[in-house]
Amino acid sequence: MSATTSVSTTSATSTGGLQIRQLHPTYACEITGVDLSKPIPEEDFIRVRDALHRYGVVVIPRANLPDDRGHVEFSRRFGEVEKSKWRSPHMRPLPYDEIFDISNLDVKSEIVTESNEKRITAIRGNALWHADGSFNPRRTYVSMLRAVELPPAGTGGETEYADARQAYEDLPEETKARIKDLVVVHSFLHNRQTSNPDSPLFKGRSVFDEPLARHKLVPIHEPSGQLVLYVTSYAHHIEGMPIEEGQQLLRELMAHATQPKYVFRHVWQNNGDAVIWDNTAVLHRATAGAYEGKHRRDMRRTCVMDSSKDAYGLNNPADAKNQRNSS
Ligand SMILES: [Fe+2]
Repeated sequence: MSATTSVSTTSATSTGGLQIRQLHPTYACEITGVDLSKPIPEEDFIRVRDALHRYGVVVIPRANLPDDRGHVEFSRRFGEVEKSKWRSPHMRPLPYDEIFDISNLDVKSEIVTESNEKRITAIRGNALWHADGSFNPRRTYVSMLRAVELPPAGTGGETEYADARQAYEDLPEETKARIKDLVVVHSFLHNRQTSNPDSPLFKGRSVFDEPLARHKLVPIHEPSGQLVLYVTSYAHHIEGMPIEEGQQLLRELMAHATQPKYVFRHVWQNNGDAVIWDNTAVLHRATAGAYEGKHRRDMRRTCVMDSSKDAYGLNNPADAKNQRNSS
């Protein structure tokens, strides 16, 4: 685990009844004074969305979304909520297709153990830096994660973020010029193979036999007008470059973007807390902890599809109709 920039209060503003407190020197904020147990007025929603666009990550302590339905309905205010096309037989049968299960619980609602290869490999995959859905023809915009049941304090499970806009901004000018028009080819399988090199689930498969998605390495974050270093663990190679050379460049850029100075580590505190992030501006990853295999951790997520001009990258929008669920 890398060291991270510690949480520090750099500024606080009050807008309407909402208080916004910046959590990292360059991004991420906490909003208090917002109660999502009931629908909030449009002007408050716009303040939350504006904060999301500005800060990339919005923590809402005790958001108190009442249930899965309330979670889906609030998410819908950001745009088109992604629906699971099928529910894996390894996951709990949750009632809404829009709710993605990020828990460590199996189909019987019992704690996942190392013997559950399918689930453990997915958990390892999410521990690599990524933007949800970058392997899809249409990218994911907002993810909203809510804590239904957290493990005991101090047993891990923090979520880490990296500021991909600031990381781009800080690149040397010559690097910016060199990468500005590059196209990256993303693969879901690539992340799973990298995170699970010995798993029989992924061994012997080629990314070139499975769906690939092409996205700009430096897309624009439309709401802020800032450029983003869109480098994720799904990024397999760079179009038009020898595979090894492209992968070396991707590794260097990933190492740059995830330096401790760009990282904000969110420590989950209370059941009912929620975090919203903009996948077109920040990266994230799950972290391990002593709770694994011992304590229940029930987290649920929604995803909202990107509608910005770089949403489909260089892909055929028709291919997005059958894309897999975000991860
Ligand atoms: Fe994720």
